[in-house]
Amino acid sequence: ILRLGVMASGAGSNFEALVQACTDGRLQAEVALLVVNNPGCGAQQRAERLAIPCQVHDHRGVASREVLDQALVAAFQAAGVDVVVMAGWMRVVTSTLIGAFPERLINIHPSLLPSFRGLDAVGQALAAGVTLAGCTAHLVCEEVDAGRILVQAAVPVLATDDHPSLNARIQRQEHRILPLAVSLVVDLVRQG
Ligand code: GAR
Repeated sequence: ILRLGVMASGAGSNFEALVQACTDGRLQAEVALLVVNNPGCGAQQRAERLAIPCQVHDHRGVASREVLDQALVAAFQAAGVDVVVMAGWMRVVTSTLIGAFPERLINIHPSLLPSFRGLDAVGQALAAGVTLAGCTAHLVCEEVDAGRILVQAAVPVLATDDHPSLNARIQRQEHRILPLAVSLVVDLVRQG
């Protein structure tokens, strides 16, 4: 069975969706290790509840992005990880990580890429006044939020929406499409 590494910075709802998909058989893999950069974040608390190994790699005090990524690569390799998922990882990653998991590093982003790359994609969509928003699961390349798209889902933006309401509607779709995208990559890795 393939081993997943997951990276998270925040609440960890996408991390939990991945664990759930593994448990109920939608995703033929197991979550071997969660890494978080924010000590005490929701994702870390979920890992404790779900009995998934978790390591804290606080970016504060680390000399560079490459040094942080090298520590993540070492942790994932030591855990025998095959595929890595950025599930709300709010740091830019470097070729140190990308090159260690070629075609095996997946990100979830809360917009219909290529629209609204970068920070606060939900706020960007609201400010732009679009009536269709969504989320994208994609492979990670060195240009931020520009890697090949695996799965997208669209949701309506309602006239009554504010940031929390639109974010919640998008996240419900993230929890559905992220396991789907990971399972596409897992199947490809299995086929060699
Ligand atoms: C998710 O909505 C994800 O799309 C977003 O962070 C949220 C994490 O939620 N990621 C980005 O914005 C990446 N640029 P979660 O911690 O509950 O999974």
